[in-house]
Amino acid sequence: EVPVITLDGPSGVGKGTVSLRLAQQLGWHTLDSGALYRALALAAVRHSISLQDEVALAQLAIYLDVHFKATPALETTQVFLETQEVSAQLRTETCGAMASQLAILPAVRQSLLERQRTFRQLPGLVAEGRDMGTVVFNDALLKIFLTASGEERAQRRYKQLKEKGIDAKLDSLITEIAERDNRDMTRTLAPLQVATDAQVIDTTDLSIEQVVACILQQVSK
Ligand code: CDP
Repeated sequence: EVPVITLDGPSGVGKGTVSLRLAQQLGWHTLDSGALYRALALAAVRHSISLQDEVALAQLAIYLDVHFKATPALETTQVFLETQEVSAQLRTETCGAMASQLAILPAVRQSLLERQRTFRQLPGLVAEGRDMGTVVFNDALLKIFLTASGEERAQRRYKQLKEKGIDAKLDSLITEIAERDNRDMTRTLAPLQVATDAQVIDTTDLSIEQVVACILQQVSK
């Protein structure tokens, strides 16, 4: 079996950066599952499909023309939707909010399930999202759940958006992120929750390096 490390947790907790660094250290592949939900939201807007139209969205998810290109030196992954580079558009909180709305729909999650599992390739995979350890890679080698205070997460997301030249306001981010986390935690299918066999790391006072080191230590055990 191809080994998988899962990283789940709420918005702005640092999953993306931690997962890229871990994968770089281990020489493994990555899966940013949130980017699939975000890309689907963007595709829905482009094709004028309502975020409530479960059947049409599930169909769109199956044929979604999305692919990823890792650029390890820059610590980012470029995302292409229908051959166009959309990485910056996907990062906006508007897109995040739309993603969490369609993530509620069971048929949409089902459509994305198999696609996510195809990322499991040798020598290994670091998968990040909301339900990586609880649903998609239930049999993972190591399951990590990252947390941090709400304020700290909003601050991190604010800084990250600014660095990427994306417009954002801190107070609206605090409310928007809280709203999205609440939607993710209270949905019926695959809600954001700690897997019974996951290790929880509170990253509020930890640097990215410390979080990565902590996880690598678990891997070598
Ligand atoms: O980067 P951030 O943690 O803010 O968000 P993301 O990982 O890009 O995910 C965007 C949204 O997609 C989340 O708020 C979830 O609603 C949804 N999502 C999900 O339902 N399941 C996943 N495995 C990943 C994301």
